[in-house]
Amino acid sequence: MALIFRILALSVATAAALPAPGHGNLSKPFVKTEITPWNAGEVTEFPIHSSCNATQRRQIELGLAEAVELAAHAKDHILRWRNESEIYRKYFGNSPSMEAIGAFEVVVNGNKNDVLFRCDNPDGNCDLEGYAGHWRGENGTKETVICDLSYERRRSLSTMCGMGYTVSGSETNTFWASDLLHRLYHVPAIGQNWVDHYTDGYDEVLDLAIENATLSTHDSETLQYFALEVYAHDISVPGIGCPGEQHEHNHEDDKKDAANSHGSTPTATKTTSEAPSTTADVPAVS
Ligand SMILES: *[C@@H]1O[C@H](CO)[C@@H](O)[C@H](O)[C@H]1NC(C)=O
Ligand SMILES: *[C@@H]1O[C@H](CO)[C@@H](O)[C@H](O)[C@H]1NC(C)=O
Ligand SMILES: *[C@@H]1O[C@H](CO)[C@@H](O)[C@H](O)[C@H]1NC(C)=O
Ligand SMILES: *[C@@H]1O[C@H](CO)[C@@H](O)[C@H](O)[C@H]1NC(C)=O
Ligand SMILES: *[C@@H]1O[C@H](CO)[C@@H](O)[C@H](O)[C@H]1NC(C)=O
Repeated sequence: MALIFRILALSVATAAALPAPGHGNLSKPFVKTEITPWNAGEVTEFPIHSSCNATQRRQIELGLAEAVELAAHAKDHILRWRNESEIYRKYFGNSPSMEAIGAFEVVVNGNKNDVLFRCDNPDGNCDLEGYAGHWRGENGTKETVICDLSYERRRSLSTMCGMGYTVSGSETNTFWASDLLHRLYHVPAIGQNWVDHYTDGYDEVLDLAIENATLSTHDSETLQYFALEVYAHDISVPGIGCPGEQHEHNHEDDKKDAANSHGSTPTATKTTSEAPSTTADVPAVS
């Protein structure tokens, strides 16, 4: 009897604490969250426009799935190793890791609304020599156009470290995954007008990590190179990767890297080391 009374008293108190139904216009979102899950309406796959035919759609979908895989591994590598990772320090210097983790996570688990990939050629840029795709900018900030050249040129991540690819010696857009990662960062819903282009090319990326490390964790190029190098090192050719020729400069911390990669004797593969190494040489491509 006492127990029943207590439960009753409790539920009366709880009811009193809730906002009165119909109070102002707060009642609408309240009713909505009561009848649907909190994440109702979330878009979990990147939208692809009807202008893409079956083969185009399939290639873009597979490319985006690989972009997510690339970003997911980059994030996992940082979560596991933080700045104990030589590869982390090479690309992000002494920056805290949270921003880079977030930049990858938004691609993996962020809401994928307000993003659109299309295959028609609305701005005519696909007619320009060498255009494999472009962000529409002021003509459509959410939209990315993929041109025919992409289907011929972009490779699957499964070919990583093959066919002469090295991280330092090849373009980041060799793979669908990194090319689309770059394109996604242009879209405000993903890049949040925060990921930007502070560098162009591998050498500038390594300089940024030393000179302006705080920019590196939201530099589009740095995020791509880092993701490619850790994927190559951890997944494609475990413990070795394919970093290619290492950049030479006068920074103390990098003297060891430079010495190893330019030495005439092959570097022993470190299989027992705690932190991942970037110093092992790539096997010659046959
Ligand atoms: C909320 O209610 C106020 C006061 O009635 C009104 O001025 C306002 O326009 C309403 N906002 C929305 C989003 O309905
Ligand atoms: C899709 O469009 C491309 C480019 O026009 C074309 O090469 C390809 O054959 C088309 N695929 C199908 C299934 O129609
Ligand atoms: C890694 O980060 C910690 C915490 O910020 C810092 O104390 C340490 O010096 C860094 N290690 C290296 C090798 O940069
Ligand atoms: C936007 O559209 C205009 C007019 O068609 C075109 O000149 C311009 O190049 C387009 N911008 C981009 C980024 O494609
Ligand atoms: C670092 O920032 C300074 C000041 O903005 C700039 O002059 C310099 O070029 C930057 N260095 C790199 C490698 O981006």
